[in-house]
Amino acid sequence: MRYLSGLAWGWLGTVSATSQTISTQGIYDLVKRRIPQHVDSFEFSLVNATPSVVLSASEKPNDQFVVSTSDDGKILVEGNSISALSSGMFIINNYHRLHKYLSDIAHVGIYWYIGNRLDLAPSELPRLNEPLKGSSVVPWRYDLNTVTFSYTASFWDWEEWELQLDWMSLHGVNLPLAWVGFEKTLVEVFQEIGLTDAEIFSFLSSPAFQAWNRFGNIQGSWGGELPYSWIENQFNLQKQIVARMAELGMTPVLPAFTGFVPRAITRVFPNASVVEAPSWGNFPPQYSNDSFLEPLDDHFGPLQNSFISKQKAAYGNVTNIYALDQYNEINPFSGNTTYLTDIAASTINSLKAADPNAIWMMQGWLFYEAESFWTADRIEAYLSGVANSGDMLILDLFSESKPQWQRTDSYHGKPWIWCMVHDYGGNQGIYGQIENITQNSMQALASSPSMVGLGLTMEGQEGNEVVYDLLLHQAWSETPVDTEQYFHNWVTARYAGSGSIPQGLYHGWEILRATAYNNTNLTASICVTRSIFVNEPAISGLLDWTGFDPTIVVYDPADLVQVWKYVFEAAAAQPALWSNPSYQYDLVDITRQVMANGWGTIYADLCDLYAQSNASSAEIYAQGAKMIGLLNSIDTVLSTNRNFQLSRWIDAARAWAQGNESEAAYYEYSARNQITLWGPNGEIDTYAAKDWSGLVSTYYVPKWQIFVEYLASTPTADYNQTELHSQVLAFELKWQTEPLDIESKEQDLQYVVKQVVEAWPDLFSG
Ligand SMILES: *[C@@H]1O[C@H](CO)[C@@H](O)[C@H](O)[C@H]1NC(C)=O
Ligand SMILES: *[C@@H]1O[C@H](CO)[C@@H](O)[C@H](O)[C@H]1NC(C)=O
Ligand SMILES: *[C@@H]1O[C@H](CO)[C@@H](O)[C@H](O)[C@H]1NC(C)=O
Ligand SMILES: *[C@@H]1O[C@H](CO)[C@@H](O)[C@H](O)[C@H]1NC(C)=O
Ligand SMILES: *[C@@H]1O[C@H](CO)[C@@H](O)[C@H](O)[C@H]1NC(C)=O
Ligand SMILES: *[C@@H]1O[C@H](CO)[C@@H](O)[C@H](O)[C@H]1NC(C)=O
Ligand SMILES: *[C@@H]1O[C@H](CO)[C@@H](O)[C@H](O)[C@H]1NC(C)=O
Ligand SMILES: *[C@@H]1O[C@H](CO)[C@@H](O)[C@H](O)[C@H]1NC(C)=O
Ligand SMILES: *[C@@H]1O[C@H](CO)[C@@H](O)[C@H](O)[C@H]1NC(C)=O
Ligand SMILES: *[C@@H]1O[C@H](CO)[C@@H](O)[C@H](O)[C@H]1NC(C)=O
Repeated sequence: MRYLSGLAWGWLGTVSATSQTISTQGIYDLVKRRIPQHVDSFEFSLVNATPSVVLSASEKPNDQFVVSTSDDGKILVEGNSISALSSGMFIINNYHRLHKYLSDIAHVGIYWYIGNRLDLAPSELPRLNEPLKGSSVVPWRYDLNTVTFSYTASFWDWEEWELQLDWMSLHGVNLPLAWVGFEKTLVEVFQEIGLTDAEIFSFLSSPAFQAWNRFGNIQGSWGGELPYSWIENQFNLQKQIVARMAELGMTPVLPAFTGFVPRAITRVFPNASVVEAPSWGNFPPQYSNDSFLEPLDDHFGPLQNSFISKQKAAYGNVTNIYALDQYNEINPFSGNTTYLTDIAASTINSLKAADPNAIWMMQGWLFYEAESFWTADRIEAYLSGVANSGDMLILDLFSESKPQWQRTDSYHGKPWIWCMVHDYGGNQGIYGQIENITQNSMQALASSPSMVGLGLTMEGQEGNEVVYDLLLHQAWSETPVDTEQYFHNWVTARYAGSGSIPQGLYHGWEILRATAYNNTNLTASICVTRSIFVNEPAISGLLDWTGFDPTIVVYDPADLVQVWKYVFEAAAAQPALWSNPSYQYDLVDITRQVMANGWGTIYADLCDLYAQSNASSAEIYAQGAKMIGLLNSIDTVLSTNRNFQLSRWIDAARAWAQGNESEAAYYEYSARNQITLWGPNGEIDTYAAKDWSGLVSTYYVPKWQIFVEYLASTPTADYNQTELHSQVLAFELKWQTEPLDIESKEQDLQYVVKQVVEAWPDLFSG
C-alpha cells in the first residue's frame, strides 16, 4: 500500500517534478552498512521528490515522510527526499509525540565515538499498526562549523567520516559543511596565476590549524611546512566525503575563493588592491595579518571562477551553496558603509559569475564577536550588497546564548539558520541548555519568517551528544520536544544490547536533565565548562569563571555525585553493562566530571593553606601531593577508554604520514600544539584543552608539580605570578616536541573505578 501519494499535504503537487534523477541507492547502502541483517526489511520510496539544489534557501519545502508496514511485512518508508527517508527510518512523529523507529521502537542507535549500535536491532522488526507521518518544521538541518574540521576532524580518516555521515543522515542533517581538501583547489588556482610553490606553501598552515588559515586569521606553519602529500590525501578523502553526502541526499556546503592570498600576490598582480587583515589571536605578523585581495579588484572574479570550476570538475555538480567568510574575527579594512556594500556586492557577483545558482553561506559569528564594529548600519550595508535575499544564507551561530537575529531584524530578511555552538575548543564538561534549544528555537521560528533551519555549529564535537541529538530532533516538532520523554527514550536506546536496563540509569539521566543539562543562567555560563586543572597554575582566580571558558559548574556538584551513584550501581544490577561501549563511555565521562569537580576543592584548600603564611613547606607538599594524586587517578580512569586518550589523537595524526618519520613528527607537533599552547609560543594558551589520559599525566601533572614546588619554596608575600608563569611556560614549550611515554594502557574499567572510589571515598559520597 502506498500512503504518501494519497495524503493531502498542502505543498505536495506544488513542487514541480525535477529533471534530476534522485536515486534511493544511497539509503539502501546505509542500511546494508549499519543494519546488514535487515537489508531486505526496509523499502524506500520517493514521492514528489524535491531536488537537493534549490535556487534560494527559503524555497525549499519541508521534508515529509510516512512509515508503515507493507503488505509483505516490510517497513515501508515513503518521503519527498532522501533525507526524509533516512529520518523516517530513524524518526517518527506519532501524534505530536516524537518517536524514532529504530531507537524508540527497535531501541537502537548510532553514536559519536561509540559507533554503530543499529545492528542490535531485533531480528524481527516491530510491525506498525497504522502509518506514522512526519514532517520537518524547517527545510534545512545544518551541521559543522569551519573550526570543527580542525578541533575534531583534523586527522579523521574515511572510517570516521563514514560514521559521521551516517550519523548525520539518520539525524536528518541535509546541509553539511565540507571543507576537507580545500587546499588542493586553492593551490592549483595560485599556481595558475604564477605564484611559486615556495610562495604558496609559506601561506598554508599545518593540519590542526587549517581552519584559521581558511578564515584568513593566520598564515604559515610553525614547526615545519605542510607537505604536498597531505593536500593530495585530504583531497582524495574529500572526494569520498562529497560523493557520500550526495548519495545520502545532502546538499554539501563547499568552500569558495575567499580572497585570502599569499603575500607574494603583489608580485604577480603588482597593481592589485590588496589590504592586510588585522592581526589575530596574539599572533605576530609573520603568522597573521593575512593579505586580502579585495573582491572589488578585477582579479577577484577570475580567481573565484577558476576556484569554483576546478571544484565542480573534481566533485561534480553537487551543490550551489558556498561557505565564504571574509571577516571572521578580523574587521574589514574600512567601516565605510558604501565600502561594505560594495564588498558584499562584488563577492556575490563573483559567485554568480562562476555558478549562476550560487547561494552565499556566511557564519553570523562576526556580528556577535565584533559587535562594536558591526553597528546596525554597517550590518545593513554589508547585507544589502546582496540585493536578492535568496542568494544568501546566514548561520545565526550561537543562537542558544548570543543570538543576533533579533538585533539584525532577521538579517534584514535573508534566510538564516538557528544554530547551537554549545562547545568551544572541544572542551569537556557535562553541560547543556535543553530548555533554550527546544523553546527558544521554536519561538524564533514562530516570529521570524526568514528562519529556514536548525543547525549544529559546535567548535569541537566532543561529549554531551544528547543535546545535539535533541536539537536535531526538535527540527521535526513545532512544539518544544518533551525532554522527559526524550531522555527516557534516549537512555533505552543508548544502553541497548545488555539486557534489561536498570531503573538507576533512567534516574541518573533524569537528574542530569534537570541539572547539568538544564542551564538557564547565562550570566554564569554560556557554554561547556572546563576542568579547573587544565588552566595555567595560579594561586587565585581559577575558580568559578563565568561566561566564556567557564570553570563554574552550574549545578550542585552533589547532584552529579548522585548521578554517578545511580550509573555506577546500575552495573551491579546489570553486569552486562560493563562490556557495553555506551555505558563504558558514559561512566568514564561522569566519573571524570565528579573527580574534576572534587579537584577544585583540594586545589582551593591548598591555596587557603598557602594564604595563611605560616604553613610549613611540609604541609604544602602534603596538600600538593593530594592534589597531584587526584590528577593521576583521573588519568587512570581516562586511560580505560580509547576515546579519552591522548594517544588516539596523536596516533591519528601520525597515521597520515604513512611511515614518513619527519612528516609524522610534524603532524604530531601540530596535534599536540593545538590542544596546549595553540601557537608557537602560547598565543592562545589552554584554549582547546582536553581531559585526556596521557595529557593529564605528562602535561598537567608536571605543571602542577612546578606550582607545588614554587609554593613550598616561596614565602607567601613573595608570590610572583610572572615568575611562576615563566617556569611553567618553559616546561610547556619543551613538552611540545619531547618524546612521550603514553602507551595506551586500557586497564579494566570496573577494576579502576573500584580502586578510585576506595582511594577517594569523600569524592564519591554525596
Ligand atoms: C618524508 O617527508 C619529507 C617532507 O614531506 C620529504 O621531504 C621526504 O622526501 C620524505 N621521505 C621519504 C623517504 O619519502
Ligand atoms: C600598474 O599601474 C601603473 C601605473 O599606475 C602602470 O604603469 C602599470 O602598467 C600597471 N601594471 C600592470 C601590470 O597593470
Ligand atoms: C597587523 O595588524 C595589526 C592590527 O591588528 C596592525 O597594528 C599591524 O600594523 C599589522 N601589521 C602588519 C605587518 O600588517
Ligand atoms: C547543475 O545543477 C543545477 C541544478 O540542478 C543546474 O541548474 C545546472 O545546469 C547544473 N550544471 C551543470 C554544469 O550541469
Ligand atoms: C565612503 O566611501 C565613499 C566611496 O569611496 C565616499 O564617497 C564617501 O565619502 C565615504 N564616506 C565616508 C563617511 O567616509
Ligand atoms: C530547568 O530550569 C528552569 C529554570 O530554572 C525550570 O523552570 C525548569 O523546571 C527546569 N527543568 C527541569 C527539567 O528541571
Ligand atoms: C535562551 O537564550 C536567550 C538568549 O540569550 C535568552 O534570552 C533566553 O532567556 C534563554 N532561555 C532559556 C530558557 O535559557
Ligand atoms: C546566575 O549566576 C550568577 C553568577 O554565578 C549569579 O550571581 C546569579 O545569582 C545567578 N542567577 C540566578 C537566577 O541563579
Ligand atoms: C596559621 O595561621 C592561621 C590563621 O591565619 C591559624 O588559624 C593557624 O592555627 C596557624 N597555624 C599554625 C600552625 O600556627
Ligand atoms: C616578578 O617576577 C618578574 C620576573 O622574574 C620580575 O620582573 C618582577 O619584577 C617581579 N615582580 C615583583 C613584584 O617582584
